[in-house]
Amino acid sequence: MLTSRRPATTTLRDLVTNAPAETEHAGMLLGERLRAGDVVLLTGELGAGKTTFVRGVAQGTGSPAPVASPTFQLVRIYPGRVQLAHVDLYRVENSMELRDLGLEELAQEGAVVVEWGDRLEVDGAALIEIEPLGGDRRLIRTTRDLGH
Ligand SMILES: Nc1ncnc2c1ncn2[C@@H]1O[C@H](COP(=O)(O)OP(=O)(O)O)[C@@H](O)[C@H]1O
Ligand SMILES: [Mg+2]
Repeated sequence: MLTSRRPATTTLRDLVTNAPAETEHAGMLLGERLRAGDVVLLTGELGAGKTTFVRGVAQGTGSPAPVASPTFQLVRIYPGRVQLAHVDLYRVENSMELRDLGLEELAQEGAVVVEWGDRLEVDGAALIEIEPLGGDRRLIRTTRDLGH
């Protein structure tokens, strides 16, 4: 019998990428699955590849817009088959700013993907970790699935 240490993820299979384009592609596969109401929390150190991944997610949701690091903008909205809200909590320092995000409204309007997502606790959110393995290698691991 085939056994695995963890149940297979239905959100995105765990994988190791060797280039930014591969991480983007993984993001695209996720984006194609996203529906309104989905929240995906991304974790990983600075430079891990979170924004690169989101670039692919936006493609997967059908957004033609270029994805940039929302450094001075907490939220960027990409219209598509499903609207994608791209949130980056890197510069958020207090819980008031987190409350003011309007996450619930964003999730009602579409899907939400959050960089530095470990700063939030969201019921039902998927959790994806991007871990640098040295050089251009990155491990992309789903530690909590979307509910579908
Ligand atoms: N396999 C890879 N996946 C993603 N990014 C990679 C990879 N290899 C190298 N990089 C580089 O790492 C950096 C990731 O930056 P970025 O996506 O902005 O990270 P973060 O948003 O997590 O801070 C980019 O300069 C990218 O070119
Ligand atoms: Mg980033």
